Formats: sequence, C-alpha cells, structure tokens
Amino acid sequence: MVYRTHTCGELREGHVGKTVKLCGWIQKTRLHGGLCFIDLRDRYGVTQVTLDTNKHPEIKDLKRESVIAITGKVLKKPEANAKLNTGTIEVQAEELTTLSKADILPIDLDDSTNTNEDMRLKYRYLDLRKDNLKNNIILRSKITQAARRFLDKEDFLEIETPILARSTPEGARDFLVPSRRVAGDFFALPQSPQLFKQILMVGGMDKYFQVARCFRDEDLRADRQLEFTQIDMEMSFVEQEQILDVNERMVQYVFKEVLNKNIKVPFPRLTYATAMEKYGSDKPDLRFGLELKNVTDLLKKSDFAMFKDAKYINAFSVEAEFSRGQIDALTKFTQENKAKGLVWLKITDKVEGSVVKHLDEKIQNELKKLFKGTVFIIADEKRTAQEALGNLRKKIAKDLNLIKKDDFVFAWILDFPLFEWSDEEQRFMSMHHPFTNVHPEDVELLKKGDLGNVRSIAHDLALNGSEVAGGSVRIHDAELQRLIFKTLGLTEAQAENKFGFLLNAFKYGVPPHGGIAYGLDRLVAIMANVDSIREVIPFPRNKQGANPFDGSPNQVDEDQLNELHIKVKK
Ligand code: AMO
Repeated sequence: MVYRTHTCGELREGHVGKTVKLCGWIQKTRLHGGLCFIDLRDRYGVTQVTLDTNKHPEIKDLKRESVIAITGKVLKKPEANAKLNTGTIEVQAEELTTLSKADILPIDLDDSTNTNEDMRLKYRYLDLRKDNLKNNIILRSKITQAARRFLDKEDFLEIETPILARSTPEGARDFLVPSRRVAGDFFALPQSPQLFKQILMVGGMDKYFQVARCFRDEDLRADRQLEFTQIDMEMSFVEQEQILDVNERMVQYVFKEVLNKNIKVPFPRLTYATAMEKYGSDKPDLRFGLELKNVTDLLKKSDFAMFKDAKYINAFSVEAEFSRGQIDALTKFTQENKAKGLVWLKITDKVEGSVVKHLDEKIQNELKKLFKGTVFIIADEKRTAQEALGNLRKKIAKDLNLIKKDDFVFAWILDFPLFEWSDEEQRFMSMHHPFTNVHPEDVELLKKGDLGNVRSIAHDLALNGSEVAGGSVRIHDAELQRLIFKTLGLTEAQAENKFGFLLNAFKYGVPPHGGIAYGLDRLVAIMANVDSIREVIPFPRNKQGANPFDGSPNQVDEDQLNELHIKVKK
C-alpha cells in the first residue's frame, strides 16, 4: 500500500483533475453545511481538504492533531488562499482513513502563544510540529550539510573520535562515566575532540573535520548547553592565515547556500587588546558603532577623586537623551556588571553634568572633540571598566534599536593572551587550552615568566556579539608543550599522567598544525535569528540542566550502582 502520492506542500494548479493520496495531521477543521474543511499538515505544508460529513461522520470525533490519510481529487479553488503555497487548489476527499487518534493537547500549537518553556520541552514532539521550531531544525540540517559539502570539496576527511575517553580537563568540568570492569576507573565524555584531532594530524590525516558532540559540566546560559555540537576542524602544515582563509570561505559558502546572503571576506581582524579597548568585549558586536574610548590620561588630570585614583577610565557617547530614572537604571546595570559606578555627561556646545565642576576648560574642550550627546564614563580596574562599559554599549544599542536584525557582521579576534589569571584558583590558567601555540614574539616573555603579557596564536570568530568559533595554531614541539604544562603548575609526573599519550605521539614526527571549532548551535541560532540555542536544538536541557522530555538526570537502581562499584553519599 502507498500511504501518500504527494506531500501536503506539493499540490499546485497543474495537479487539478488528478486523484491523489495525502497523509498528515489535522491542523484545523471547520464544519459548513454537510462539508468538513480540513487543514491537513505535514512537514512540507498545509493542504485544504474537503470531506462529505454524511459519508464520513467519524471526522466529527477526530480531535486536532489526529493523523489521517485521504484519497481524493484535486480541484481548483474558487478563491485562492494566498497564505498557503497550495492555496490555489483543494482536495475533495472520497476516502478517509484514521491512522492515529489524538487526545486533547497539553500545549497550544498556535505559534503566537507563549507556552511555558518546560511544557514545550516536555512535549517536544508537539512543539516540533510548530513552524518556528520546525524551520529552525530544517535550517540546522541545511547549515550542517552545506558545511559538509564545502569541507569535502576542500579535501577534509570526516572522522569520528571516541566519546568514552580519558579525563583531561580543558577548562570546564568533565562528565564522568564509571567503568564496570575496573572498580574506581572512569571514562570522561569529551569536552571537545581536541587531543584526538591533534593526534589525527600526527597520524598524517592532514585535514580533518567532524560534526562533534561535546560535553561540559558548566553553568547553563542562553548560549550554553551541557552537551552541544561543534563543527570541529584541524589542518596540517598551515599558518594561522590559511586557517582563517578556509574558514572565511566556508562561512561565505554556507551563508550563500542556506540564506542566499553575500558575506564579504576577508573578515576584519582585531587584536584582543583592541577589541577590549574599543568594544569592551572579546566577541564584539560590530553591527553598530558606539565605540569606547580610553580617556584615562585625559580624565586622570581632573580633580574628581574617582577619576584621579582610577587605574583605567573609558567612555562612549550616544546622541540620545536619558531621563533621571533611565540613568539610575543604567547605573544599577553597570554595578551589576561589577563596576563601582557610572558617571554621565551631556555634551552639546557645552558640557553638563554633576562632575563638570571638577573638569577644567581644557579637559572639557578635549571631551567635546571626542564625544557628542550623552557620554557614559566608567573608572575602575582595566578589565572591569572595559567589560562593564562594553555591556552598557550593547544594552543601549538594544534599548535604542540601533541593531539591524538581519545584518551578519563577522570579525576575527587575534593575539589573545595565552594565560589568564584566575582569582578563584589564585594562579594563571590557559585562556583557550594548553595546546595553543605561543606568539613567536613572546617566547622570551614566557621563559622569563612574565605570564600576564604572553600572547598566543589563537583566533576566535565573533558574529553579531557572539563567539561562534574558536581555535588556534598548536604547539607541535614536545619541549615547548612540557614547558607550558610546567608553567600551568603540572609536575612532570602529572603531565605524563594526564597528557602522556600526546607527549609520546610528539616523539615520532609531528606536522605543524592548527584548527578551529564552531559552536554549531550558536551559529544556527544567529542565522535563525533566535535568542537562545535551545530554539535550534531538538531536545535541549532547561536552564537547570534537566531535560523535561526524558526526565534526565534521574536516579538509577541500586543494582546498577553496585555493578559500577558506586555508593551514593546522601
Ligand atoms: P572552545 O572551547 O572555544 O574551543 O569551543 C568552540 C566553540 O564551541 C562553542 N561552545 C559552546 N556552545 C554551546 N554550549 C557550550 N557549553 C559551549 N562551549 C563552547 C562556542 C565556541 O566558540 N577544542 C577547541 C577548539 C580548537 O582549539 O580548535 C574548543 O573546544 O561557539
């Protein structure tokens, strides 16, 4: 038996007169005289079906979202429905088969309604029937397939790497899987395929990619999940420039194929230091201006205590007026962003504001040259001032609607610091991961131990204020790799224990190599124009890390625990 001859999105005027079979979900029914008008829906679209209720009275008992099959004749519709692709025709059904009856729905499938997110996640199979989510999943598939086509053409091999692997912390916390065979042994789920892809280069694979699932036990946010997907790549015998080039062409190809958008390459390149100074972020949103300016030297000359004693002062201006209440809210916002406070001025042909009395004429004239409109100033530790003002820049652009929704603006961020001080751990840690190469000009700084100033050969790709990809040129020299492990506080024995297999592989001929990984979920979310990656993942976790769909994580049987040699501490 053939269930269907066409999909619900397929029939056009050219099919008029044909007898067809359609299957789908009853989206809506309307009774009119002796006729039932059914909106029959599948993935491809909606077709209007008419049915004689005298011949098929059972239709009256079928609830919304029941699944039916019909056989009928395609007729030209007297009045076309412009909202449907199939709007010029309707199908007059002669036969009706009920394939599956639906109960009353627990969530509303009307796209315009805002159902509670946990309910949407619990009934994900219903949520997936809605156009928004369905289209995001289709988009995701198209993006992945386009990336695959591009990488295949460029000679990359698609290679899988293990999911049950060794625990080699890369920054986030590992998910551990207990071994049944050896009491006390654990596998870790990979935070990324990082070491395997490097080893594949040692194995001569030359160009690798994988659509890889990654696992990180970290706090969830709108753009973070415990498990997420990377388009992961690695290449041999390349310098950074060649990695950037192939990625620019891939992004260009994917956007053209999937969204028919022309993306200009090469992308602008900013050093980390410049990105932080001008935008207060290492993933700046370049869809709008409002550039921050470093005014430390200028304002330190004032007699305002907060400025005089500050380590760093930055500011930006926007040509807009703000009420007292708005300024109070923005001040609160910057304080939530860890800054001590927010100072504001109004600059027209004069300078106004509560701190003006502390600014002499020379300073005021300089400020007039730099800014126009309302000026926001933060004086604090350098990074705090940059980040807080960067966040304010984004907030104001959003509040004032300065961001064009369908713009896609990319930028490479380069020359990241190799290390980052951790207040929590009271030590320097890798900013990316410990396999990132040292900037050639900074090897001496590393040897001298001036860790705060060593740069790396890393590259992040920022898109519309989000970090969509990150990577680096790797260390391929065992001695330098050992030095980095030592600098990070690992003893020889610890380095051997954690990374021995890498150091060992490095003994037998290593090509210089480097790569990058995209957060596929983030890329899709931006291309789909949604705020959270949960909207582009078929079965995401909620903000608490639970999955209301299958109820995980959940407790397991005592027997299972025993087998795994595990006793749970209450
Ligand atoms: P990194 O840790 O920067 O690099 O990850 C690469 C990209 O993955 C995305 N991403 C996430 N997306 C969703 N949820 C998360 N929890 C999450 N964490 C990261 C981001 C990020 O840019 N092995 C290296 C890559 C390399 O060096 O080649 C790595 O994993 O978009």
